[in-house]
Formats: sequence, structure tokens, C-alpha cells
Amino acid sequence: MQSESIKYIKSKISAPPQIALVLGSGLGDFGSHLHKPVVIPTKEIPAYPLSTVPGHAGRILFGKISFDGKESPELMVFQGRIHFYECDDIQKVIHPITVAASLGVKTLFVTNAAGGINRRFVPGDLMFIRDFINLTYVNPLLGRSIKASERISGYFDERMAGNAFAVARSLKIPVQEGVYCWTKGPSYETSSEISMMEKLGADAVGMSTVPEVIAAVHAGMKVLGISCITNMATGISGTKLSHAEVTDTANLVKKNFTRLVSAILVTM
Ligand code: HPA
Repeated sequence: MQSESIKYIKSKISAPPQIALVLGSGLGDFGSHLHKPVVIPTKEIPAYPLSTVPGHAGRILFGKISFDGKESPELMVFQGRIHFYECDDIQKVIHPITVAASLGVKTLFVTNAAGGINRRFVPGDLMFIRDFINLTYVNPLLGRSIKASERISGYFDERMAGNAFAVARSLKIPVQEGVYCWTKGPSYETSSEISMMEKLGADAVGMSTVPEVIAAVHAGMKVLGISCITNMATGISGTKLSHAEVTDTANLVKKNFTRLVSAILVTM
């Protein structure tokens, strides 16, 4: 069914995208900084799964961004994603990545909103994702016949992460680095679960990203990931969590997030 989505998208765009950028909860505003983008609402695209979560606009934008006099490569920007908890169908979750791969995208830049587990973090921190823990044990490659050469490992590109760190340093934007733990959701974690994840070495927790990263690496893409720490995870801080807190914090860090992501994109 990807072929229907791909055919439709190809009929709308003039240049093939080189980098796919997935914008997490509350971070979709970044898209407004593209120059004269081609905007495709995902509900128009045949066979494309719909995002139903507030803070996920459900649009794909094609275009370039400028920063400091430099221009980015051609971008495919996903304003919103499909979470596993929305559809209980892992193939729908990775549909955007499969479509991006078919359009020729070689690099995935993935972002998300996440709860902070590392006690040195504060809400508003931006964390480069060094590695992940897949606590769902769901894998989008399950059930496929996989050749030995397709048994992937090594998910986040160290060279790209190193470059992104250097960019953050040059902009004087403080950044963290850590391990992202994927849970299914849609309910938030218990404090006992967070305590377990802390012992396992997780720095942040969220309900997305990992299946997209697995699908992207399997498709031969290089991946860079940033989590926006929108709240401290349950039990790490005393406050009760809500989706509004997640989108409110994402709104507050929008400026730094946009500067950092733009500056990284123009060096890619
Ligand atoms: N837990 C899971 N997902 C999240 C959180 C959280 O605390 N914050 C943002 N997404």
C-alpha cells in the first residue's frame, strides 16, 4: 500500500527529499520555518495512516530551511507521527519511514517529547539519543524473512551526533546525551516502572521513535535523534503528569529547538 502513498506524493513534489525530519509532540511548529514548502495533509494521501494525537498536525512539508546564510538539503518534514498505541499496528507506525526511503531519503532526523529519568535533567533539556532500550519488544521487522545481511545493529550515527554536538556548542545551546526507553503507552508509566528503567540505564522515556529508527536503519538510512525533555518522569518529580504539560514545555523550548535543528540541518 506504500506504493499508493508514494505515487500521490511524487505527483505533488518537484525535488526528491534527501533528509526526513520527524517532529515530535508539540514540536511541529518548526515546519513554519521552511521556505515556501509544498504542504500535503496526510489525510489527502492514499493509504496513509492518520495521527490522532493533539500536538500532531498530520502534515508533510517538502522544502528547505536556511540558517546563518546557509541552506539545508531538500527536506521532508513530518508534522506529527503515528504512535503504536493509536493503531496497534507496527507497520502503520513505520509507513512514513518506508515512504521516505522509497522517495530516496538517506538520512532520518527524528525528534520526540520524552519524560526525563536522569536526575541531572530538567524539563526543557534537549537530549541527543545515544542508544535505546526497547521495553515493548515490538519490532517492525518481525515476521519478515530477513537475510543475514539485514540483521541490523548500531542505530544512531556517531559522526552525525558528533557534528550535532559541535553545532550545539557553537550556538551555546546546552544539550544532554542519553538512552531513550520506548514504552507502548498510551498511559504514562508508574513510579515503579520508572525506577526499573533508571536501574536499566535509561535517561528518558517515551512512546515513539524506536520503531521508526529500526525501520530507517533497515532501509539503509543514517539516523540522528533528539528528545525534548518535556517533564520529569513519574516518581522522579512529585507532580502528576499530563499531555498538556508535555506540549506546554515543548512550546517553551521551541526557540532553542528550532535554532538547533536548523543549524544542524544546514551542515548535513
Ligand atoms: N512518559 C512517556 N512518554 C512521554 C513522557 C513521559 O513521561 N513525556 C513525554 N512523552
